[in-house]
Amino acid sequence: MALGAPIFPRSSMRDIQQFDGGFPSFSQPQEVGCFSLSRRDDQRRQYHDDARALKPLVRRGPGPVVTHLNINLDQGMDVFIDHKQEYKMTEHLEFLLQWIAHHPTEFNKLRSKIQMVCWRGKLHELLTTPYDRQNGWILCVCKIDGILYMSSFENRNHESRRLSETKKDRTFMYWGFKFEQYMTNQPDDEKEFRKPVDNFESFQTVLFSRLKNTGILYGAEMDCYDPEVGTEKAPDRYVELKTARNIENNRQYQNFCNHKLMKFWAQSFIAGVPLIVVGFRNDYGRVSSTEEIPTQSISRRVRENGQPWLPNICANFLADFLLFVRQIAVEEYDKAIYRFEWNPGAEKIACTVEAPDSAWKFIPDWYMEARPK
Ligand code: A3P
Ligand code: MG
Ligand code: MG
Repeated sequence: MALGAPIFPRSSMRDIQQFDGGFPSFSQPQEVGCFSLSRRDDQRRQYHDDARALKPLVRRGPGPVVTHLNINLDQGMDVFIDHKQEYKMTEHLEFLLQWIAHHPTEFNKLRSKIQMVCWRGKLHELLTTPYDRQNGWILCVCKIDGILYMSSFENRNHESRRLSETKKDRTFMYWGFKFEQYMTNQPDDEKEFRKPVDNFESFQTVLFSRLKNTGILYGAEMDCYDPEVGTEKAPDRYVELKTARNIENNRQYQNFCNHKLMKFWAQSFIAGVPLIVVGFRNDYGRVSSTEEIPTQSISRRVRENGQPWLPNICANFLADFLLFVRQIAVEEYDKAIYRFEWNPGAEKIACTVEAPDSAWKFIPDWYMEARPK
């Protein structure tokens, strides 16, 4: 059943200036827990209620820019088998829910402040929506004991990209994971680097923050921590690792600021991760330099480059959309699942109410039994 108008936003999504107000209030995210994931024999992932997968950043030299490196991201690519697609489609909030089920005391302490539970990736995707011209999304929301749970489903664009994935796409993906492996092991550990990457293994932080009256409990994968930073506090000590193509001319720099830096900023800002280490590579997967980019320096850098995107437009859109979701999604999980859909170029975000036992169901039955009461 489609809900009658009005739908979000009041004016058109094409008018992103409507979000160009003051930056909404956003509390520094705080780590309330963590867990690790590893590979299981059946090519699914295994939950561990500890930080075993958290690794330190291993710098290749002093200072924010390190040059004259020769890191080969292609190593092990020939024997790499990617099973990620297989589990990605079915996991939804599974492991975040497992964390909640393992930590009823922590969850109940926060319960009255939490309005929403989701992965960081959904918040990141929503933040960049005002500038998204090619992806779009489908987000489903259901309410359990007064708290909204949000997860995503594959839309047409995602599906066609998955079905038409080329060897080149797979290579870029492999290079990203390989860079993580290089930056979290000693540089002379040749035995480790000969192995293909294991993209099943990951460390996840569980964060709480408040964006303009919406308290959010969210899980986020963290690439590593900085052993040189003078704090044990999280997420302050976490570091995001990224790869990008070498920048050789102005046009490429513009492109880097317009697109890559927006994604880097959105992903790390929303999780309170202060530092991004970028490995610059050539077309053959050789990284010759790394650069440390503080997350908070990105908006200045972009301002100096013609301001192709604005952080406050991103943040106001996200804050307002979450408030809208809270207004719409009033029924509990046994009555309705709310499906929000947006396609690039569309004027509005559509909302449809689905049946609780439909194909849009994403909360596993075990959670309904095991959730903290
Ligand atoms: P890069 O970020 O260097 O591209 P993350 O950066 O979020 O920690 O993810 C690690 C790597 O996973 C990425 O490295 C990329 O290789 C791969 N990856 C993440 N999201 C992806 C996506 N939507 N499509 C393809 N690869 C992706
Ligand atoms: Mg990561
Ligand atoms: Mg990364």
